[in-house]
Amino acid sequence: MNKKEAKPYGITPWEVSGDLDYEKLIKDFGVAKISGELRGSIGVSNPLIKREIYFAHRDADKWLSDAKKKKRVSILTGRGPSEKMHLGHLVPFLIAKSLQEKFGCDVYIPISDDEKFFVKEGLSYEKSIEYSKDNILDLIALGFRPGKTFIFEDFVYTDIYRYAAQIAKKTTYSTARAIFGLKPENNVGWTFYPAMQAAHILFPQFHKGKHMTLVPIGIDQDPYMRLVRDVAENFGFEKPAAIHAKFIPSLYGEAKMSSSDSGLNVIFLDDDKKTVETKIKKYAFSGGKKSIEEHRRLGGDPDIDISFQYLKIFFEPDDEKLQKIYDDYKSGILLTSELKEILIKRINDFLGEHRRKKELAKKQIGKFLMKN
Ligand code: TRP
Repeated sequence: MNKKEAKPYGITPWEVSGDLDYEKLIKDFGVAKISGELRGSIGVSNPLIKREIYFAHRDADKWLSDAKKKKRVSILTGRGPSEKMHLGHLVPFLIAKSLQEKFGCDVYIPISDDEKFFVKEGLSYEKSIEYSKDNILDLIALGFRPGKTFIFEDFVYTDIYRYAAQIAKKTTYSTARAIFGLKPENNVGWTFYPAMQAAHILFPQFHKGKHMTLVPIGIDQDPYMRLVRDVAENFGFEKPAAIHAKFIPSLYGEAKMSSSDSGLNVIFLDDDKKTVETKIKKYAFSGGKKSIEEHRRLGGDPDIDISFQYLKIFFEPDDEKLQKIYDDYKSGILLTSELKEILIKRINDFLGEHRRKKELAKKQIGKFLMKN
């Protein structure tokens, strides 16, 4: 059989392109696959874990074993505030929250307003700070525990610089270039930033001493883990662990949910009911057939259908219910319009709650932000 040749892909923290073959990524990045046993042992019912959105890891077993022995462990994952937040941005935070609930551990959330300022064409300093303030409210709204959750912005919590500097001194330019694919035309802010993100990842240990930290990230962020794990020993620290998520597709079905087309291809957390309805109805890539008659006869393809995928990833935690939607769609009992209605309702329920909690977050923000 003539197997279709996989297109080459490119993955750096700044760019994702080409077809994604996750088995190949595991080999290329030198990470481990999350086994069924490890998955079970993490023991959270979050769809992102049980449905294998998180597919790879580094030393997550070691983190888990310490957590179960009630040793100090922490979780850290960050946000680059380049724009308003959309559903795809929530992935690492949803899992951080589930793990905090289960293990009662500290969660650290660095906000890399500097990163996005350096890297994103046309993003002004003022605007990056504005997004940072807005995104922080979205994150608090997810329900992290006050007193156990530490949020800090690079432009505000400037204490982080002293750690970045110590890491920068241990990192040669050629190492950074090789890991991150830095280009000669990149501004020097961009070339320094890896030391900053490495400082974020070691921050829990600078803050509370040597212990295991788990970093939920998209696989594109793994180069930072390599850098951090190489320098951790210089400071007498543990090598931080990571769990890696697959990319979440955009409404159009593009491999990574990254907003383009004026945001029509993603659901923003501040999209109102009508906008959600229009985006899903018009733009969510469908695995349904062209006509109702044909759909009834041949059935749809849930595996490529974005509405089904979003239910699977975010909005239908009940395995039996999800299976029924899958079967009904595949057999043609459930029409595309009906599937989309299910998703629209779920998203709007979630976003309605989210907006309410984001309002409350404005009063709680002081309990979360770190001060110099
Ligand atoms: N660079 C990440 C992004 O663009 C955001 C980020 C900043 C981060 N610091 C981090 C992620 C530390 C994980 C760990 O999304």
